[in-house]
Amino acid sequence: MTLWHGRLGGGTAAEVMAFTASLAVDRRLADDDLAGSRAHVRGLGRGGLLAEEEVATLLAALERVEHELGTGTFAFTDDDEDIHTAVERRVTEIAGDVGAKLHTGRSRNDQVATDLRLYVRRAVVAVVSGVLELEDVLRARAVEAGDAYLPGYTHLQRAQPVLLAHHLLAHGWALTRDVDRLLASAARADVSPLGAGALAGSSLALDPAGTAEDLGFSGVFDNSLDAVSDRDFVAEVLFDLALLGVHLSRMGEELVLWSTEEFGFAVLEDAYATGSSMLPQKKNPDVAELARGKAGRLVGNLTGLLVTLKGLPLSYNRDLQEDKEPLFDSVEQTTLALAAMAGMLRTVRFDLGRMQDAADGPASAAVDLAEWLVGRGMPFRQAHAVVGSLVRDSLERHVPLVELVDAHPDLGPEAVALLEPGTAVTRRTTPGGAGPGPVATQLERFALRIERDRARAGVGPD
Ligand code: ARG
Repeated sequence: MTLWHGRLGGGTAAEVMAFTASLAVDRRLADDDLAGSRAHVRGLGRGGLLAEEEVATLLAALERVEHELGTGTFAFTDDDEDIHTAVERRVTEIAGDVGAKLHTGRSRNDQVATDLRLYVRRAVVAVVSGVLELEDVLRARAVEAGDAYLPGYTHLQRAQPVLLAHHLLAHGWALTRDVDRLLASAARADVSPLGAGALAGSSLALDPAGTAEDLGFSGVFDNSLDAVSDRDFVAEVLFDLALLGVHLSRMGEELVLWSTEEFGFAVLEDAYATGSSMLPQKKNPDVAELARGKAGRLVGNLTGLLVTLKGLPLSYNRDLQEDKEPLFDSVEQTTLALAAMAGMLRTVRFDLGRMQDAADGPASAAVDLAEWLVGRGMPFRQAHAVVGSLVRDSLERHVPLVELVDAHPDLGPEAVALLEPGTAVTRRTTPGGAGPGPVATQLERFALRIERDRARAGVGPD
């Protein structure tokens, strides 16, 4: 029997049910749906729409449904179009006649919006906890890296040496912004739509502020049409996750590069690599590649929802049912990616010798030579030209740069010292720079940031 059997006769065509049912997806909302129903029942009790024993009967039935769902003994039927229908059907079976009062003053439109906001609230905490865990892995690896350095790149060409810690923390700071965004989106989602009804509120004595408080929402809707139509909070979280996915993809890409024989900067732990079904010698960085690849899917989920929302008239339209699959998928994929990336980064071995050899090419200190000349009063543009032509000379005539610097009238032996391996990176002394001084400060700030964000999100270290 459908929820609308009074109005439409003869039952729903099987192919309509197959096309419109969403149970397979929205059963993930079961806990949220039960929480919403409990608050609604208590609200109906406060409004005098349910007698005390009716409230008790319905709450007991909801508890039994929760138990059945939790233990996998809940028997879904072919008529259960979505999780809301399934729960109401079963409550009615258990509670008898009073079950018919559960949906008083409520529509699945405000119900599903409530469920989804509750889901977002808990999903964001879970994702943020994974992000903070990954941040902490980056922090620990940065501490462990000490004064090790590698080439910093622009255009994927060697540019200037940077501390490995600095490089790792660069990814870490991007993640701190993901945390900020997710928490801000969760705060905007923290508004209860329950009591908006189908679209316009109700003639009955509902208590939207009371049910909002009961569910722990910080606020309650101002406009019932907006309450059932608004999916901004889903789009926002999908954007946050897409950008987080983009950040993971950039980390993944570097791990792919670093673990090539050509770079040789990183050796993956066997448990975080995969083999080839045909080529016996292969060790592949599939985790890093999938972190890169999943970003496409996360961006797709965001794009899909925005296109679904575009041009929709107020208020609820069934199109909105398409909000859940991308949201659940993005949350689930991001959670998996965060855990796999954290494990991979926790265990990867950095080949510090390879990194340092690559960073110690004499040309990587070119800007230090130019800045040394600036220190002696030469305008920077001129200094840049002097050093640039020495580098060109060295390459064209196959003469070591050191010899040319030594022989140059404006440079000489004191400048040659700048080309000593390991010297350049120590000269990056400005705040936020890549050398040991500023990186020590940065590490302290980063550790504090993780602590502060853990407190903000209410998650502890694992
Ligand atoms: N499964 C629906 C959704 O996810 C629930 C709301 C259905 N509302 C309706 N008026 N048909 O959006």
